[in-house]
Amino acid sequence: ERCTAIVLAAGSGKRMGTSVKKQYLLLNEKPVLYYALKAFEDSERIHQIILVTGAGEESYCKEEIVEAYGFKKVTAIVAGGKERYHSVWNGLNAIDSSAGSGGSTKELYVFIHDGARPFVDQATIERAYQEVKKSKACVVGVPTKDTVKIADEEGFVAETPERKYVWQIQTPQVFEKELVWEAYSRLIEQERSGKLTLQVTDDAMVVESMMGHPVKLVMGSYENIKLTTPEDLEIGGVFVRRTCEEM
Ligand code: CTP
Ligand code: MG
Repeated sequence: ERCTAIVLAAGSGKRMGTSVKKQYLLLNEKPVLYYALKAFEDSERIHQIILVTGAGEESYCKEEIVEAYGFKKVTAIVAGGKERYHSVWNGLNAIDSSAGSGGSTKELYVFIHDGARPFVDQATIERAYQEVKKSKACVVGVPTKDTVKIADEEGFVAETPERKYVWQIQTPQVFEKELVWEAYSRLIEQERSGKLTLQVTDDAMVVESMMGHPVKLVMGSYENIKLTTPEDLEIGGVFVRRTCEEM
């Protein structure tokens, strides 16, 4: 079964606050974005990679990342949009125009991954692949270590969900192509007609709310962090250094 990975790197990295966007910062001399691309390039489950970058950054990504590191599975580099979900939509639409031999109808599953998550490992990709074949929709995450509380408007505790039912969601988020495409096309249509009320923060919620389709949780890894704020870079530095020493 053919699988496409959409790697998202069209954000502006406001919370990181660096002058160079976080996806292009260097970790052990390679750009952050390199690591996510490398994970999908190395996975035998993945047949093509769509890279979504900021508008105007396509040729930089092509030359300095895709060609420089010899990623052969990257079949399209497209510009993203204002919100993450716009970038996902652009990536989904690039599957059709970029699918190689045989055309897009063969693309069965789509892995949507944050370019700012460099430490996704092969075992996680494999678990997600096995699950999507069963459930058609699954997302990688980890059970929360901290207790989570729901606050009310005044900042008082409203609720304490039982910890074993609380997961922190990561990427990849993996779906049957037709399912996720239909979900996003409904979302974009709602936005176009001014009826969008959903605050979209991940892909699973688009599939849940637009399609009413159940989404299975798959065990990820506590190292599969998203580089969001400056301390994440320090933690990431520890992870890459350790991986390099092992090699
Ligand atoms: N992303 C994207 N297009 C957007 C927004 C985000 O492709 N319009 C990507 C980011 O590049 C990142 C991933 O989605 O790889 C997760 O988003 P986040 O961590 O929020 O990154 P940024 O939006 O860049 O950071 P911030 O929210 O702090 O500005
Ligand atoms: Mg963001």
